[in-house]
Amino acid sequence: MSAAESFAAGNAAERLGAVSTGNALELRGVGKMFGALAAIEDVTLTVRSGERRAVLGSNGAGKTTLFNCITGDFLPTTGTIRLFGEDVTRFPAYERIRRGLRRTYQISLLFNGLTVADNVYLACRGVSRGRFSFLRPRRGDTLVARADELIEAVHLTASRDTAVANLSYGQQRQLEIALALAGAPRVVLFDEPAAGLSPTERAELVAILNGLPEHIGYIIIEHDMDVALRVAERVSMMHNGRIFKEGTPEEIENDPEVQELYLGGGDE
Ligand SMILES: Nc1ncnc2c1ncn2[C@@H]1O[C@H](COP(=O)(O)OP(=O)(O)OP(=O)(O)O)[C@@H](O)[C@H]1O
Ligand SMILES: [Mg+2]
Repeated sequence: MSAAESFAAGNAAERLGAVSTGNALELRGVGKMFGALAAIEDVTLTVRSGERRAVLGSNGAGKTTLFNCITGDFLPTTGTIRLFGEDVTRFPAYERIRRGLRRTYQISLLFNGLTVADNVYLACRGVSRGRFSFLRPRRGDTLVARADELIEAVHLTASRDTAVANLSYGQQRQLEIALALAGAPRVVLFDEPAAGLSPTERAELVAILNGLPEHIGYIIIEHDMDVALRVAERVSMMHNGRIFKEGTPEEIENDPEVQELYLGGGDE
């Protein structure tokens, strides 16, 4: 069995439990003010367990602010946020992480001097219950095996022993996905993982996201319609701090209002 297969198979049992538990996220009337500016306003959004959702919208639409409210980086000014049925509106970020929520950032946060394998191993180590050790990982260590599964899931096996500083930009973004997956999350928020990627790297990202174990749900913020429509089951459109439309990729692609907003973007 390949590492990717065992990664998927090992999660099959969890998936049965996780997928049937209803909603991963329920936001009701969520708003966030910065002084007089409403960064997001009256956002109501439901994402099922295991669902893959894209959030599309222009610069400043409020997408990252929405993520910050979901993760607990910001407390919303109004509204409620439920995570797997539990009201977490006032919970600190680490309490949400404990419940299976992870995120990636628009800006890279990697250990540049370490290899791919070391970065992923440390991320796995950080979330395991074992005591921290300064010793090098031993062969046979289950965390090493887990790290290798994650490295394969993000298509970095060939660069396993490469230092982060020597990876391409696209590979660094792939590594960030592995780090977000390290704690066996149930829902992951990806903030523009395709930003700055070449067409080839974008295709790789689409393949990685579509290959993730099915029980892992996510919300992906994306400017590129092409990527968003290929990795999401549903799409939410944001503008001026509000979600103004939601639908399947087909519905969104054929929507006249959306076409008007995204036409003129050309065929770059
Ligand atoms: N910490 C902050 N303090 C003050 N204003 C902020 C803060 N964070 C965001 N904003 C403002 O809130 C609005 C929404 O910003 P946000 O970063 O959520 O947009 P976005 O949709 O993620 O944009 P982009 O596509 O450029 O990343 C913007 O007008 C922004 O200037
Ligand atoms: Mg943003």
